[in-house]
Amino acid sequence: MQTTGRPVISATGLFTPEDSITNEELVASFNTYAERYNAAHAAEIAAGEVAALEPSSVEFIEKASGIKARHVMAKAPVLDPAIMSPRWPRRANDEPSMMAEIGVAAARDALERAGRDVADVDAVLCAASNMERPYPAMAIEIQQALGIEGFGFDMNVACSSATFGIQTAADYIRAGNARSVLVVSPEITSGHLNWRDRDSHFIFGDVATAVLVEDAALAPRAHWDILGTRLKTVFSNNIRNNFGFLNRADPETADTADKLFVQEGRKVFKEVVPMVAQMIVDEAGRLGIDPQALRRLWLHQANAGMNRLIAQRVLGHEASEDESPTVLDTYGNTSSAGSIIAFHLHSQDLAPGDTGLICSFGAGYSAGTVFVRKAG
Ligand code: COA
Repeated sequence: MQTTGRPVISATGLFTPEDSITNEELVASFNTYAERYNAAHAAEIAAGEVAALEPSSVEFIEKASGIKARHVMAKAPVLDPAIMSPRWPRRANDEPSMMAEIGVAAARDALERAGRDVADVDAVLCAASNMERPYPAMAIEIQQALGIEGFGFDMNVACSSATFGIQTAADYIRAGNARSVLVVSPEITSGHLNWRDRDSHFIFGDVATAVLVEDAALAPRAHWDILGTRLKTVFSNNIRNNFGFLNRADPETADTADKLFVQEGRKVFKEVVPMVAQMIVDEAGRLGIDPQALRRLWLHQANAGMNRLIAQRVLGHEASEDESPTVLDTYGNTSSAGSIIAFHLHSQDLAPGDTGLICSFGAGYSAGTVFVRKAG
């Protein structure tokens, strides 16, 4: 087949865990934990040696973030005030690993929607915030489970992993090194979230998404042309996770709270909003697209207030739900998967010729834009 070197999105796929936790359930669990902690440390708290834990609140969470619920792989242990962490039996090396299993589910959904035979797929990228192990790569396990030949590798750019994956896949297509690339983002964020931290315990949810990026010559009739991709990184410690293979070098601190997600949420909000809004406007200009005429923005899903401000700066007016759909109310922040879920659930109704933007932002800092136009 003659290839075109023009990358398109042929289809997307989604895996949503069955379990969901409401803010009410989450806050009840946290507050029980806080009460027990304060009772256990009553003497030190009275002596001023230990700070008492403040209760969390449903109203604060909804007002500050827009999040009302989140899906998780294992609800009971996360909500158990004595555990507050995911729990499941360790899987043997010859069993599918958890990330691969949900990644495969999302990938199959995308392949089915595209009507794609695995024999035509050349590569699998596993693009996510956390990997279950350093090696063998999650992507290679997913590749093997799907029966795909070619190659796979993992990449981590935190919340921007999926858009960085899409550009990487698009570059393979542009260079003629691949005709069909699966970008899979299994995000089991419940494993890196500190469920005992009042400032952040409400933020994340679990999910997996997949994006099939292909040469236009191979794509199904209904697809999305990729008009342009752009990536940006600027170093910041304001979102940080110190978990890593060298933690064992200092056993005393190997399990401290900084080995989980930590952020300065206010600073992130203030610094990332202008950076991303400017990046979108600049990239639209480069591509000759009027940002105010964009039919829809599928933005990263971390905070409803951030998205409101970014969309306003890009579109020049307060965005409607139709122009900038929200999924974080029911999914929470799903890291790199958020903008892909929004695109997956809210793109069918657009007409051929409509132009939109998939945009991610987060730790690093990192940000990625993918301008797309519906074909047909
Ligand atoms: N329940 C009740 N009150 C809480 C609370 C909770 N769970 N967590 C914090 N508070 C309190 C704080 O103690 C503080 O009280 P004070 O004013 O008396 O000091 C007050 O609420 C405001 O806290 P603050 O942390 O400044 O909240 P915020 O309005 O900045 O919202 C985030 C916090 C995290 C929701 C918000 O900063 C955010 O979404 N940032 C975007 C970053 C992000 O999500 N990044 C993820 C990767 S992209």
